[in-house]
Formats: sequence, C-alpha cells, structure tokens
Amino acid sequence: MSFRIQPAPVARLNRCQLFGPGSRPAIFEKMAASDADVINLDLEDSVAPDDKDAARQNIIQAIGDIDWGQKTLSVRINGLDTPYWYRDVVDLLEKAGERLDQIMIPKVGNASDVYAVDALATAVEAAKGRGKKIAFEVIIESAAGIAHVEEIAASSPRLQAMSLGAADFAASMGMATTGIGGTQENYYMAREGQKYWSDPWHWAQAAIVAACRTHGVLPVDGPFGDFSDDEGFMAQARRSATLGMVGKWAIHPKQVALANEVFTPSEEAVTEAREILAAMEKAKAEGAGATVYKGRLVDIASIKQAEVIVRQAEMIGA
Ligand code: COA
Ligand code: MG
Repeated sequence: MSFRIQPAPVARLNRCQLFGPGSRPAIFEKMAASDADVINLDLEDSVAPDDKDAARQNIIQAIGDIDWGQKTLSVRINGLDTPYWYRDVVDLLEKAGERLDQIMIPKVGNASDVYAVDALATAVEAAKGRGKKIAFEVIIESAAGIAHVEEIAASSPRLQAMSLGAADFAASMGMATTGIGGTQENYYMAREGQKYWSDPWHWAQAAIVAACRTHGVLPVDGPFGDFSDDEGFMAQARRSATLGMVGKWAIHPKQVALANEVFTPSEEAVTEAREILAAMEKAKAEGAGATVYKGRLVDIASIKQAEVIVRQAEMIGA
C-alpha cells in the first residue's frame, strides 16, 4: 500500500502512432490525413546516415507547412550514441514551429539519457523564448532500458509516453527471435505433440506498464514488422491492451485501422462500464461497497476500471 495517489497520465489519445521516414516527405501529407492519433516523423533508423541532414530539413519544413489537425506531432531523434542527436534537438527547437508537440528519444538506457536531452531542450527553449515546452516520449529497446525502466519513467516531467521497441530490444537482450514483435517460432510449450505459443514480450511489456503507471506515463506497444500479417498484429495488440498498454505503433498505414480497432473501447464495453458505474452508485447509496452486475462481483476496484473506459470513450467522442 502507498498513501500516494497514482498519477494520471496526460489526457490525450494514443491508440496508434504512425511512423514515416523523414527522408520520404512524399508520404507526410498521407500521414497527416490518416486516422492515427500520433504522428512520428523519423530521423533515426529508417533514415540512412547520408540523408540525416536532408531529413531534418524536410521535417522542419513539414511541421509548419502541413495541417496536422488535432494529432500529437512527434519527431524521433537519433540515439545518444550517435553524432546526430544534439543537432536534431537544437534544429527542431530552434527552427521548427511550436506545432511540434513531442520528441521521441530512442534507445534510452537510464534516467540520465533523458536528463541530457531535457537540459539541452530547456536551454534552447529559453534562448529562443519558445512558449510551449516540448514533451518527450522514449523507447525502451535495450537491456539497460528495461533494467532501468522505473527510473526512466520517473526521469522528467516532460515524459508523456514510453514504447517497447521489440527489434532492438531483442538484439540487445541476445534473444533468438526473428520477427519484429508477435509470436516467435521457438517460444512455445509442448504437450502431447501440440505446441502452445507463449509470449516472449510479456515480461518486458508488464515491466513497462508497471513503471509507466507508477509515474503517470502512457505505456505503448511498439512495431509489428510483418505488415501483411493482420491476424498476428491484432493478436499482439490485444495482448498489449489486456496488459494495460494504451496503443501501438503502425509502420505501414494499413496497421492504423487495426490498432484503432483494438484500442478503441467497443460500444458494448462503454455501455457496460457506464452500467457498472451506475450499479456502484446505487450500491453506495444503499451503504454497500460491492454489488452484483450480470452475475459477477463488482466493487470499488471495478469503478476504476470502468472509469478508464468511460474516460477513453469521452476523449474519442470529443
Ligand atoms: N505513412 C503514410 N502513408 C504511407 C506510409 C506511411 N508510413 N508508407 C507508405 N505509405 C503510402 C504509400 O505512399 C502508398 O500510397 P499510394 O497508395 O498513394 O501510392 C500506400 O501507402 C501503400 O504503400 P505500400 O506500397 O504498401 O508501401 P511502401 O512500399 O511505399 O512503403 C514501408 C512500405 C514499410 C517502407 C513504409 O510504409 C515505411 O517507410 N514505413 C515506416 C518505416 C519507419 O518509419 N520505421 C521506423 C519505425 S520502426
Ligand atoms: Mg529501434
């Protein structure tokens, strides 16, 4: 138990984050027109070293020129182990307009990584008189990142979201996996000649959710590489949602609708949540702390679960 109230994450939608390389400006308008809640323009691993400068220019231009609507607009900078990241931060904050909402920091290994970017961002914002403080999101995609996940979640008031990056994570951990996210060929239990697939990402996801929920950060599932496998994507997304994650990346536009379907509460779920809240109101008025709804126990903990669903539905409706 703790006397502290669990902090609420920022109240915004984060069902799907659509990625696109900064070196491919022809798709920026299509990204803006998509149904993704968050747009991630990439300067990191989808951009070749020789294209980093041009990609930065493309992105800075597009932040001002394109109508991004109500979307959260984020740029993934290069990792702190590269010579590019400081220029990414400085140029974005000096030259891009205030429409830019967020910077995504990849391969974060400890809280000091976030502190370093925070210090640089704070100085540039002060020097330039930027009115809006830039928000951060991070990717946990290394052994160090998952080992230090809680201090990372607590690292900065700018931090709004944290994603699991399955491919780099698997490489750093030395995992014998091939696909980016999802079921892995050799991760199964066997009985009576049958294979039962298990989930190699479960532990990392649960650790991220716990760190995020402790510190009021949105936990997000990262990429699913095989964009021709809708069933695999949906299964991965549903597992993430079940564990408490709020959304998932799309690395191809066709994955946006899949993520939105999973992370948008169904009408039945919203109706049921409202009915649970009403049933608990009635129970409370009658002096009871628990009651029965559709043949099952609901109590004060059920209120919190129902409120999450109703709040999500209200944000989607707004
Ligand atoms: N966002 C919006 N639109 C996109 C898009 C994206 N990320 N990727 C492709 N499109 C568009 C294409 O331009 C094409 O549009 P059109 O029908 O008007 O011609 C349509 O979607 C279908 O594209 P398709 O031909 O199936 O894919 P592609 O070969 O052009 O691109 C990828 C496939 C995977 C290379 C591309 O989707 C991509 O770069 N994804 C993001 C990669 C990334 O950022 N990775 C970093 C995070 S892991
Ligand atoms: Mg990565």
